[in-house]
Amino acid sequence: MTRAIPATRRALLTAAAAASLLSANPGATQTRPDTRNSGRKGSRERLSLNDDWRFTPGDPEGLNGALDYDIRPEIKKSEDGKEADAKPVDATRVDATRPVLKPWILPSANPFIRDPAKRHSRPEGHPGAQVSWVKSSFDDSGWEAVTLPHDWAIKGPFLQTGPYGGMGRLKTWGPAWYRRALDISASDKGRSVFLDIDGAMSYATVWCNERLVGGWPYGYNSFRLDLTPHLNYGGQNRIVIRLDNPQESARWYPGAGLYRNVWLVKTGAVHVAHWGTQVTTPQVSKESATVDIVTTIDNDGASDADIALVTRLYALDAQGRQTGRAVAESARQTLRVPAKASAALKASATVANPRLWGPAPTQTPNRYVAVTTLIQGSREIDRYETPFGIRTLRFDADKGLFVNDQFVPIQGVNNHHDLGALGAAFNVRAAERQLEMLLEMGCNALRMSHNPPAPELLDLCDRMGILVMDEVFDAWEKRKTPHDFHLIFPDWQEADLRAMLRRDRNHPSIVMWSVGNEVGEQYSGEAGALIARRLVTIVREDDPTRPTTNAMNWAQADMPLPAEVDVISLNYQGAGIRSLPSKFPAFRAKFPNKVILHSESAAALSSRGEYQFPVPGNNSGPVRPGVGGDPKTKQVSAYELFAADFGSSADRNWAAQDQNPYVAGEFVWTGWDYLGEPTPYYDARSSYFGIIDLAGFKKDRFWLYQSRWRPELPVAHLLPHWNWAGREGEVTPVHLFTSGDEAELFINGKSQGRLKKRQYEYRLRWDYVTYEPGEISAVVYKGGQEWARTRRRTTGKAVALKLEADRSVIDADGKDLSFVTLRIVDDMGETVPFAKEAVTFTLEGPGEIVATDNGDPTDFTAFPSKRRQAFNGLALAIVRAHPGQKGRLTLRAQATALKGTEIVIATG
Ligand code: GAL
Repeated sequence: MTRAIPATRRALLTAAAAASLLSANPGATQTRPDTRNSGRKGSRERLSLNDDWRFTPGDPEGLNGALDYDIRPEIKKSEDGKEADAKPVDATRVDATRPVLKPWILPSANPFIRDPAKRHSRPEGHPGAQVSWVKSSFDDSGWEAVTLPHDWAIKGPFLQTGPYGGMGRLKTWGPAWYRRALDISASDKGRSVFLDIDGAMSYATVWCNERLVGGWPYGYNSFRLDLTPHLNYGGQNRIVIRLDNPQESARWYPGAGLYRNVWLVKTGAVHVAHWGTQVTTPQVSKESATVDIVTTIDNDGASDADIALVTRLYALDAQGRQTGRAVAESARQTLRVPAKASAALKASATVANPRLWGPAPTQTPNRYVAVTTLIQGSREIDRYETPFGIRTLRFDADKGLFVNDQFVPIQGVNNHHDLGALGAAFNVRAAERQLEMLLEMGCNALRMSHNPPAPELLDLCDRMGILVMDEVFDAWEKRKTPHDFHLIFPDWQEADLRAMLRRDRNHPSIVMWSVGNEVGEQYSGEAGALIARRLVTIVREDDPTRPTTNAMNWAQADMPLPAEVDVISLNYQGAGIRSLPSKFPAFRAKFPNKVILHSESAAALSSRGEYQFPVPGNNSGPVRPGVGGDPKTKQVSAYELFAADFGSSADRNWAAQDQNPYVAGEFVWTGWDYLGEPTPYYDARSSYFGIIDLAGFKKDRFWLYQSRWRPELPVAHLLPHWNWAGREGEVTPVHLFTSGDEAELFINGKSQGRLKKRQYEYRLRWDYVTYEPGEISAVVYKGGQEWARTRRRTTGKAVALKLEADRSVIDADGKDLSFVTLRIVDDMGETVPFAKEAVTFTLEGPGEIVATDNGDPTDFTAFPSKRRQAFNGLALAIVRAHPGQKGRLTLRAQATALKGTEIVIATG
């Protein structure tokens, strides 16, 4: 079945529009063209452009805003500590009083604007061509040489003063420039050449050979620009990119720079369009699965093209490598693609005995790849690979989510995109480490709060079997911060939403699309609902196979907005915000046929290894001076009872979920600590929300979640540590996080009583025990049988350093990382809880220490520093090998008065 769609511009029609045009059957589904289209395949090449960039912050003198995208409202006063659930307000509109670049940038959105009348025409000329830094002849040898992904803000230093709002104490704002030479051979003439940027923070403007190609304001989306008409074939070319990250543009650390991968894609004139395949699986059974593939083909050439198309499906192994022979093949189809136009066609293939994609640990994330081949005459003119998965999704309002007809409780977390000390610069291994630890905790789902992630993070979720809520915006028209997305929402909402959908919709891990987080339009009545309807319609056009949602923290069940989305996602309202009761029952009553989930739960706060006394007897409360928090040290107690004012402890959340068993599950705020938004101490550097701290060390909460999410695992974790010299005889409560239901606590062998969890209790607590040095231990029971044992002892004084690498062999590719934990230990080798000694790391061999950290939200030592104070016994060094240099890296750690140590990491 084919149909030619004439278009006046290239790629106006992508597979999304084509899918609805051809009324593809809804069903389950799959992944996107990712790094696997790299290298040369037929006439398609996808080359990394990460190397050889020159970078500088700032603007050339005398620019005076001439290259600004638009005029932004003035920031009157930055605020620290604004409540995250403060209501967004109306935007301040400013009219441009001087020329701006917006009219030249808007046309980059055209491929994603469905209504031709709404597409933008490009004004004449090339603004910026006269600016020295844009000129090809400009000598940039004095600029810094950088390799992408690059976050120019992460190296610091931390700003000592404030306020700067939630973006925090690393300066991410201000213009920045990147330049790179590009050799294009004469033989590329006649091919199409594209620049694919996976993410640029933010307001990117791109010139090629002094000609303004286009740009993309939203820092989290991936975008493509067509370089073809601007290139010098058979010679050198110059790519120049200006970014202009605004102050107060986010409520968290956004990072800065070309912080994701950048690619050069070359194709023949007739080729599969950008994100040009859409794979769906409308029928899935044990015996067979129907796989539908809608392919959009662009013809950038001057004459019509008659081509044939075949798609073959292959199984992928766990590493994503194609295996064996094709498991299915579509019938060969022919079509004519008119010159300078696009055409789409739908093919089908049947896979016998499909190996289904399903989430870990109960199912296996099996994947396939669709290899689409375009043939002209007898010549293969394009080959395009689309990884995907075969699975079914069912959303049941009474029970929750079913994947392949198996019930899967959503045990998820929210994460922001930064990778701690590495900043926003995407790194596959750092992200994989995050996911590994989340899986170990029993987490099976990730909410991409509040923006599209790096594409490789979705690849990891596909490969590791993690369910995803992909989310596009944190603001619509109403603003949360003076320069957030609301400034561009009117012009870019459709393009940004479709860009996310078309890039991401073939990932089997994604189970729903969120069109917004806590937007101000929740309570703006019909006007807000209208925007929601528009966004939801776009989602259904581009992907009819997954439900839509929108995370709400203030919406009431009878307001118009919740009615617009398929899944009701509540932030905090499920457990009850402040003294308000749980809103689960009200939404359930109003929407008995919709799935309800907690898209943000908890917002609990703690600093790893910090315990404060007295410990209140309630199971959840806000942080107040002396109650859970110490404003002097800016640390929050790790008894895991404290939360943001609108949040609650894990315990209180679970009670609300268990009292409302139709709730499909939760996404905890947050899995990992992140940079910025350091509620409740806004002059700290990083958040207190994480279950895992910024360095990747587990807080006590890790075992609380593990005890609920992995009930089959004998989890038993006692807190606090037992080094309380000076507290002898004082009440020092002991809590136990366990998957058992009953336990007896002993202090130095003396029983402190045996306790049993009552209904809606999720920890055991001995609140009146007093401290004496020695050992605390617990014997845990489940169903009356012994289930686990655990103990903690008073350690001796710190005597030595110990290093443990998460991986002792890493690739020498300049990307792979070893995360090395430093422990300060006593003479028995046990970590000393309060130890805060400063440690100096050195590395010998062909590699480098990229960054260090300790998870302390108040530590303002710059991340690249090789000297780092331990925080409650631990510090982290992140090590990388120089590309192409195999050998041995020796990491050494030294601290005054402690025995130093070293560890060897092989690179190969
Ligand atoms: C929510 C918000 C999140 C984060 C969280 C904790 O209201 O959606 O982005 O701010 O609170 O403060």
